[in-house]
Amino acid sequence: MRIGIIGAGAMARALGGGWRAAGHEVLVGARNAEAAAELAAAIGARAGTIGDAAVFGDVVLLALPVPALPEVLRAVGELLTGRTVIDCTNAFAPDAAAPEGATAFVLAEDAVAERITAQAPGAKVVKAFNLCAAEVWQATARVFDERRLAVPLCGDDAAAVRAVATLAEDLGTQPFPAGGLHRARYLEATSVFAVGLWFAGHDVRAMFPPLAAAFAVAD
Ligand SMILES: NC(=O)c1ccc[n+]([C@@H]2O[C@H](COP(=O)([O-])OP(=O)(O)OC[C@H]3O[C@@H](n4cnc5c(N)ncnc54)[C@H](OP(=O)(O)O)[C@@H]3O)[C@@H](O)[C@H]2O)c1
Repeated sequence: MRIGIIGAGAMARALGGGWRAAGHEVLVGARNAEAAAELAAAIGARAGTIGDAAVFGDVVLLALPVPALPEVLRAVGELLTGRTVIDCTNAFAPDAAAPEGATAFVLAEDAVAERITAQAPGAKVVKAFNLCAAEVWQATARVFDERRLAVPLCGDDAAAVRAVATLAEDLGTQPFPAGGLHRARYLEATSVFAVGLWFAGHDVRAMFPPLAAAFAVAD
């Protein structure tokens, strides 16, 4: 396949290198000609401008930070007509509510109101147990591939989160405190996403490497 890559950073290198190794034709296009040339040489691709990458590819990877997209797409959006465009971006923003020293992110999108808290403002809401089917909670199997089933918990009240963590342990699972209630919508999104993949016959666990291979470190 002919693949145009817009951007010459880490994702361009990782994915472009892999695609070159698999025998695809790759052109790296970046605003910085030197960076494009360096990466292209490193992975055995061609180098060019952002526009070159847009027109080269049957498939075009946008390997750019989200804030760069409006400007780049204003310039080359029309050139992408009819082409397959891969969006690998993550609109992460720092989570201001994360405990000091912890690195955590929220989606840099407008938040949906936390409906339960809004309607029951005195309640100490903890989001939990929404990721797995009732049959999973009902079953006794808790360790899969040598990993204990985890239950992420999102809530604002520390005592309430501790109480639910105990309840998760009582079910033989491993609680993961996962931030405030403002993060609960990510659990809901994860659920809907995973369920769709499961129903399509995919093993959702296969999407992620184990922690030791996840490179989960702050830049
Ligand atoms: N890195 C990861 O592990 C990872 C994993 C999954 C998804 N992602 C997502 O993948 C995307 C790319 O990430 P990355 O790690 O490859 O980023 P990166 O290493 O910082 O590279 C970003 C590239 O975009 C270019 N760029 C930045 N602003 C630009 C602008 N206004 N106009 C044109 N080019 C611009 C940079 O060029 P300059 O050098 O000239 O600034 C650089 O070539 C991001 O949206 C990120 O969220 C990253």
